[in-house]
Amino acid sequence: MMRSSGQTSATSVPIGSDADLAWVRQQVRQCAAALGFGLVQQTKLVTAASELARNTLVHGGGGHAEITPLDNGRARGLRMSFVDSGPGIRDLELAMTDGYTTGGGLGLGLSGAKRLVQEFSVDTEPGRGTTVTAVAWVNQVPSSRPGVG
Ligand SMILES: Nc1ncnc2c1ncn2[C@@H]1O[C@H](COP(=O)(O)OP(=O)(O)O)[C@@H](O)[C@H]1O
Ligand SMILES: [Mg+2]
Repeated sequence: MMRSSGQTSATSVPIGSDADLAWVRQQVRQCAAALGFGLVQQTKLVTAASELARNTLVHGGGGHAEITPLDNGRARGLRMSFVDSGPGIRDLELAMTDGYTTGGGLGLGLSGAKRLVQEFSVDTEPGRGTTVTAVAWVNQVPSSRPGVG
């Protein structure tokens, strides 16, 4: 029997204020913990989510986050998408460069978030908006009994 892509229930969180950013962080932490991510991985995910949600708010003029648990049959993971209908990113390569900012920030949000996850993609079009998607998978625990399993 064919296995589906394994997506289960997604959580959508609006991003319109600083208070919403705290809620995004909490939802990511809670979802990651429930999926079995360790504390270090949880913190990486929360840090990435915090930067990307802040970009949605500050640069994108607000939007929403979608937090989706994944299970591909071999591992569990978490997908986080940050969606806005703002001005978009004209030069994505430049925006991904460490230290580049158009807003007087540190310019480490996009590049830093990318380094904290396993899969990272940006879908953006000037005048249309931006969707940034990050995916991480729960680390496989090495077998403590070699040769078994
Ligand atoms: N959602 C977004 N919409 C429009 N522009 C964005 C978005 N996210 C990032 N950017 C652009 O990419 C640049 C780099 O983002 P980032 O690395 O997070 O740095 P910072 O937020 O400190 O400026 C921002 O200054 C902005 O020009
Ligand atoms: Mg930023």
